[in-house]
Amino acid sequence: MTRTNRQWKLAKRPEGAISEGDLELVPSLVADLEDGQALIRNIYLSLDPTNRIWMSDMDQYMPPVEIGQVMRGGTLGVVEESRNPAYPEGALVSGLGSWQDYAVVPADFFQTFEKPAGVPLTAFQGVLGMIGATAYFGLLDICDPKEGETVVVTAAAGAVGSLVGQIAKIKGCHVVGIAGADEKCEWLRSLGFDAAINYKTENVLETLKQHCPKGIDVVFENVGGEILDASLTLINQNARISLCGLIAEYNAEGPVPGPYMFRNILMKRARVQGFIVTDFAPRFPEAIGQLAQWMAEGRLQYRVDVVDGLENAPSAVKKLFDGSNKGKLMIRVSEEP
Ligand SMILES: NC(=O)c1ccc[n+]([C@@H]2O[C@H](COP(=O)([O-])OP(=O)(O)OC[C@H]3O[C@@H](n4cnc5c(N)ncnc54)[C@H](OP(=O)(O)O)[C@@H]3O)[C@@H](O)[C@H]2O)c1
Repeated sequence: MTRTNRQWKLAKRPEGAISEGDLELVPSLVADLEDGQALIRNIYLSLDPTNRIWMSDMDQYMPPVEIGQVMRGGTLGVVEESRNPAYPEGALVSGLGSWQDYAVVPADFFQTFEKPAGVPLTAFQGVLGMIGATAYFGLLDICDPKEGETVVVTAAAGAVGSLVGQIAKIKGCHVVGIAGADEKCEWLRSLGFDAAINYKTENVLETLKQHCPKGIDVVFENVGGEILDASLTLINQNARISLCGLIAEYNAEGPVPGPYMFRNILMKRARVQGFIVTDFAPRFPEAIGQLAQWMAEGRLQYRVDVVDGLENAPSAVKKLFDGSNKGKLMIRVSEEP
């Protein structure tokens, strides 16, 4: 059967924020399968802040998407046709795919997985996927938080940040989240965060002082810029800073000023460590197993923000940068089986 595909291709590199002309929706026909290949119908496409990094040609942790290439993205799909026993028809698959309706893939390109009854499929794009692993390793391995320590999380109501704060609470920490809306701060308090600060309406440094009376032992940084400076101002001796993301600067053109309070890394003998979640790939089963258990015990909540239609991907990705996403952002490309 001949199927029509639609692919979002990178037309030009964004200048500042992503604008819709940066990507172009191109129709094509899906090629016939060769031996060893499978045809995947994408169901969910993950939209992530790193999409903006991949669209640029800055020095980064993997090759940028080239002009004319189909945009890269995490996908979750179902095998529709197969000439490869590793991909039985009807199996669910996930991995690093592309912004398109269908993918024809060789052996080992995607991982197959089972969805336990009662767990929504969308969880595998968030808490039980890369997002969960990012929160788990970025907090526990990089920062080793101890009971009673104070942990500050930025972009705290986002996909990664909301999990980080809840894991820190499970570990017995005092947790303060920073987010950009009152509704998000209320949600964080309902999750058990000890305090939540709206950086758009409150003085972050002054409110952090109030909510972190014993100083800050762990910073889980998703944002950078002035918000990071406020945390650095209050770090304790031997503080640990997990540098997960710097979303405040992904749209910047040219160099951005470094943190003004960098000197406190020296004064407080602190440690800053950047990481990319894939560094921990061999240990993903450990993270996913533990996160699934916490979920089953009702100790981990999450939200998903699902936008319908592949055609809406370029406008939807902007939600990550204006803060209008509430939870893990993804596109529903087609119906769940
Ligand atoms: N190192 C890794 O392997 C890895 C893996 C996944 C994600 N990350 C990083 O983790 C961070 C969060 O990603 P996510 O997928 O969980 O997205 P997310 O937090 O669900 O969405 C991004 C959020 O960032 C906040 N934001 C956007 N621009 C901002 C700015 N200029 N200043 C302050 N806050 C801003 C917005 O929330 P507000 O309403 O609060 O402003 C927005 O909702 C990103 O920096 C991402 O690059 C890193």
